[in-house]
Amino acid sequence: MKVLVIHGPNLNMLGRREPEVYGHTTLDEINERLHDKGQELGLEVRCIQSNHEGEILDRLHHFYEEVDGILINPAAWTHTSVALRDALSATGLPAVEVHLSNVYKREAFRHTSYTAPVCVGQIAGFGPESYILGLQALHHYLLTQQSAPKGGRA
Ligand code: DQA
Repeated sequence: MKVLVIHGPNLNMLGRREPEVYGHTTLDEINERLHDKGQELGLEVRCIQSNHEGEILDRLHHFYEEVDGILINPAAWTHTSVALRDALSATGLPAVEVHLSNVYKREAFRHTSYTAPVCVGQIAGFGPESYILGLQALHHYLLTQQSAPKGGRA
């Protein structure tokens, strides 16, 4: 099985960018950990990053037929992009949204995600481990095609 990992804007700056919020791990280190974890799980992992929304949309349109699922940190586009949400939805692929920081503990504008409703689920707040947990969750979903029940508790 193949997974496309998408990193949104400014994530190329990880390691140097607001380390008190995002830590010291670089994007290359995260990608290396994802490749290692993928190998362990039997997943082929391809990672892309861009600061240009249209480029991510183009690459999503290009790659979606070659992969089984998507792991995405949409970064700031989480809170702004109907276009990215529509593109994710158009692929029909299972996607897991991840964030390094716990966006719900931060500014109010980060509490809204346009993309989460078209994803299987979301993991936030565990630093680089969010990506590893997200990959494991996507792997589990791909094997079982099962997510949590829709309704929550009665
Ligand atoms: C982020 C959270 C977003 O609100 C922010 O715009 C980012 C990174 C995270 O991984 O914590 O760029 O997606």
